[in-house]
Amino acid sequence: MKVAVFGVRSYDVDPLNAACEATSASIELSYFEPLLDKSTAILTEGHDAICIFVNDVCDATVLELIHQHGVKWVALRCAGFNNVDLKAAEKFGIKVVRVPSYAPEAVAEFTVGMMLTVIRKYHKSFCRVREGNFLLDGLLGFNLAGKTVGIIGTGKIGLITGRILAQGFRCNVLAYDPYPTPEASVCGLKYVDTLEELLKQSDIISLHCPLTEQTRYMINDDTLALTKPGVVLINTSRGGLIDSYSLIRALKSGHLGAVGLDVYEKEAAYFFADSSAKIIHDDVFARLLTFYNVFMSGHQAYLTQEALRNIADTTVKNLKDLEASGTSENLVKYDT
Ligand code: NAI
Repeated sequence: MKVAVFGVRSYDVDPLNAACEATSASIELSYFEPLLDKSTAILTEGHDAICIFVNDVCDATVLELIHQHGVKWVALRCAGFNNVDLKAAEKFGIKVVRVPSYAPEAVAEFTVGMMLTVIRKYHKSFCRVREGNFLLDGLLGFNLAGKTVGIIGTGKIGLITGRILAQGFRCNVLAYDPYPTPEASVCGLKYVDTLEELLKQSDIISLHCPLTEQTRYMINDDTLALTKPGVVLINTSRGGLIDSYSLIRALKSGHLGAVGLDVYEKEAAYFFADSSAKIIHDDVFARLLTFYNVFMSGHQAYLTQEALRNIADTTVKNLKDLEASGTSENLVKYDT
């Protein structure tokens, strides 16, 4: 099977090669640095499958082009499939597979690290000390122990994040999820009945739900108005959960104590690439980068050796299953 892998970074290559070597299936990978879109779809010619990540474009136009080039399978190296037009894929007979879970610990641990970073200001002391400035003014933080942390979404990542905070840091961890799980109490989380309750009581709020039509902009002017002054907001989930204009208003007014963001709603224009010699045309993004109490990373939370290995192993298995049986346990259907 010939597979065109798009949006490849150096760290993707070794785990994918190792996963291919470990399988009996004959899988030949062609690596392409550019993202998939209509201008790069030509590269799929002569391939049976493509392998893509979160910011590749796989809309109806691209799917029609890759179908014409003979592609039968799309293997996502991620859990989310919002960038694939599943209806169009079905129309062209292209099957789509994904990696449903690859890094819950990686994202949860990064989330807690991000909390500590914005609260204890590691990033500021790193820069200061390197410049010989050992003043502590401006670095005052607060203890996590005893604080109330609100976890929105108690799936795989939210539960682990909550467990680390409850059992490791002795935080009072509240949770909100329309589909509660009994595992939450084992992890030390206490459900509240409404999102409003969580927002009102939390000193720190961490987002762990998927981006859907219901959750888009769940953090907005109205919901931010319910939160405590000085609240810390962390988002390692999806940028679209936060209305960035509302966020900027709440930062400018001084209502938000600190913000940690690993994701941004229009991140595709800049993330996963060296944009340091580019003019940032997105004024909202540029404004967010200017706040002294905002820490941003570039969709990095998942990036651990273990996660990359899981992604590669599951992707290769998905492709192998598709070739052998025409289906896979990780198939994404149009009505999913
Ligand atoms: P999951 O599917 O295991 O859990 C999501 C939870 O959110 C579910 O329990 C669901 O019931 C809940 N939920 C749905 N609608 C909700 C709402 N309106 N309010 C509160 N909760 C709601 O997903 P998992 O694996 O825990 O991932 C969470 C998110 O993390 C993903 O959606 C993805 O966007 C993000 N992610 C980020 C990564 C990064 O590198 N920054 C890497 C992997 C995932």
